Amino acid sequence: MEVKGKVAVVSGSSRGIGKAIALALANEGANVVINYYRSREKAERVLEEIRSRGVDGITVKADVSDYSQASYLIEETVKAFGTIHILVHCAGIYQKKPLIDMSFEEWDRMIKIHLYGAYNLAKHAIPHMVKNGEGAIITVSSQRAIRPAANITHYAAAKAGVIAFTKALALELAPYNIRVNSIAPGPIDTDLLREIYGGEEGVKERGKKVPLGRVGKPEEVAEAVLTLIKNDFITGAVLLVDGGASLV
Ligand SMILES: NC(=O)c1ccc[n+]([C@@H]2O[C@H](COP(=O)([O-])OP(=O)(O)OC[C@H]3O[C@@H](n4cnc5c(N)ncnc54)[C@H](OP(=O)(O)O)[C@@H]3O)[C@@H](O)[C@H]2O)c1
Repeated sequence: MEVKGKVAVVSGSSRGIGKAIALALANEGANVVINYYRSREKAERVLEEIRSRGVDGITVKADVSDYSQASYLIEETVKAFGTIHILVHCAGIYQKKPLIDMSFEEWDRMIKIHLYGAYNLAKHAIPHMVKNGEGAIITVSSQRAIRPAANITHYAAAKAGVIAFTKALALELAPYNIRVNSIAPGPIDTDLLREIYGGEEGVKERGKKVPLGRVGKPEEVAEAVLTLIKNDFITGAVLLVDGGASLV
């Protein structure tokens, strides 16, 4: 799919990987809707960066785990730009906790943001893509869906669910020329990773355990997302961007 002139929504694009994806789409000439939940100022700054690239965008506050707020995000997009061609579901959280100590609320929140978020957004975006006769949906999953670890049962399960959702939806939407793919990052240097590993030094140490000897950059994930959007013969794929982390 040609990205230039298209309308893209990126959930969780106020920071981290989502921000890099939003900027990469803007670089290619798409108008981009920046979704945030808590980081309004950061989202506004991403919008400024997008506009500086000669394309347009808006910021929309929405908790994507909530069905009606996800609907609002898509409605605002269509109000501003008339339609939607590209949907990237990147919003996410992370937590390490043994199941025995995990509250129902913690389990529920994790599943809702990642998996319900994918459903809530796709559900409202698809009718517009069907009308357009084309569309690209990208989910951001994780290497942890493929190579789980202890103390992240909720995260691993949510991301594995996102992958199964992606593949089933790819089959369902192929007749409409709407492609659905997933990016599965390994450790990528964002706020999320710095929180887990206690800052820059900890992130560097984590990188040493990756076969390529370092953690990834958000821009490297964004580049892979662009490939999945642009290549018209890729659907139902899960593209690992993990420096080989899932192999060890
Ligand atoms: N970094 C990694 O190593 C890594 C590895 C594998 C997979 N991933 C996945 O990549 C995605 C992005 O991660 P990241 O590292 O970029 O994280 P991050 O730096 O912590 O950014 C998270 C983003 O998600 C948004 N968000 C969180 N909850 C939300 C909600 N309920 N509704 C809407 N937006 C919400 C945040 O927005 P606000 O700040 O505005 O609330 C922020 O923009 C996640 O799905 C994560 O699981 C990351």
